[in-house]
Amino acid sequence: MSILITGAAGFIGSNFIYNWLKKNKEKVIALDKLTYAGNLDNFKNIEDSSFFCFLHGDIGDRDFIRYNLKKYQPRSIINFAAESHVDRSIHGPDDFIQTNIIGTYNLLEEVLYYFEGLSNLNKSNFRFLHISTDEVYGSLDSSDLSFTEETPYRPNSPYSASKASSDHLVRAWFHTYNLPVLTSNCSNNYGPYQFPEKLIPLVISKAINLEEIPIYGDGKQIRDWLYVDDHCDALNLILKRGRLGQTYNIGGMNEKTNLDVVSTICDKLDIIYPNKKIKSYRNLITFINDRPGHDRRYSINPKKISNELNWIPKETFDSGIDKTLDWYLLNQNWVNNIISGEYVNWLKKNYK
Ligand code: NAD
Ligand code: TYD
Repeated sequence: MSILITGAAGFIGSNFIYNWLKKNKEKVIALDKLTYAGNLDNFKNIEDSSFFCFLHGDIGDRDFIRYNLKKYQPRSIINFAAESHVDRSIHGPDDFIQTNIIGTYNLLEEVLYYFEGLSNLNKSNFRFLHISTDEVYGSLDSSDLSFTEETPYRPNSPYSASKASSDHLVRAWFHTYNLPVLTSNCSNNYGPYQFPEKLIPLVISKAINLEEIPIYGDGKQIRDWLYVDDHCDALNLILKRGRLGQTYNIGGMNEKTNLDVVSTICDKLDIIYPNKKIKSYRNLITFINDRPGHDRRYSINPKKISNELNWIPKETFDSGIDKTLDWYLLNQNWVNNIISGEYVNWLKKNYK
């Protein structure tokens, strides 16, 4: 028995694999296209495990997916593969349409073909879990109620529109073709192995290199921060006990303004990683032009997953950010390899 993880070499995919291997004695097939965001370095601690194997390929490559589903016969698939950065989607939406919409469509078609060939017993155990985002619900004002699974979709960026589109395809493959799907919509994750273009790892990296820390607009936008391992725990539960065809919202119950997040990181670094050259890392904070169409607030109501699957996040923002800071300070090489392009060169040499 095995499970197939797509987008496995990215931030949440890698964390999920570590979380999974701690809990389960079941082989993980990790599949990834290795875009700029995929990093084989993330598997350094498990690459020799007999419970792990890696496949290099695209979710949109039907022959590749068909061949490997037949070969590995996974009993479940978790689809993390996506273009995931809002800023990149503003400057170049094409990859987002290709992977998030057309890629998901091609994957669904091949998964359905594979599913239809399974025995009745294997069919009843099979699950396709699609990972999505709270950004599909659009933006909230400060007084609005948090997003529930019933909130209408109102995506505002090319990224969130492409994710919304993929969610609709997944839903349609359930209702039309009876593919046993589940969808989760989570809030902003943070933790180890996050690519340093996203706010939290970017701030840590800029601060320790004594570079300006960019805050878009007034910095009062609110995100609901979810520690990645809490997210992975929730996904384990959804895969095991989630109701077919349902969607589950996963949030960290940690709403913070961007300015609060950045200031907290600066203050903690002042204590655990002081630098004599500056009085406080806060002095590096620089307000810059706002992101076009910047959503003001995201907030998740996690009542459904909490009631049905008994999940609540274990980490507060304070405990989660401490773990994250420890990891980034101990793994500065991981970040430096990405930033210096060493990893990119290595990739070119190893994967033509
Ligand atoms: P990431 O960008 O770190 O990783 C995405 C991975 O997908 C990369 O390894 C990349 O190489 C791979 N990939 C891209 N296109 C592919 C393709 N066509 N075929 C196969 N692999 C491909 O993203 P992440 O933060 O790990 O996010 C994972 C999923 O969770 C995404 O679907 C994202 O939309 C969703 N999500 C993320 C967050 C967050 O805060 N990070 C929040 C909500 C939802
Ligand atoms: P990000 O990590 O890109 O996630 P998302 O856009 O998916 O929420 O950004 C989190 C918040 O931080 C978002 O409101 C944009 C803001 N931000 C900055 O202010 N400066 C930055 O350099 C980045 C990358 C993000």
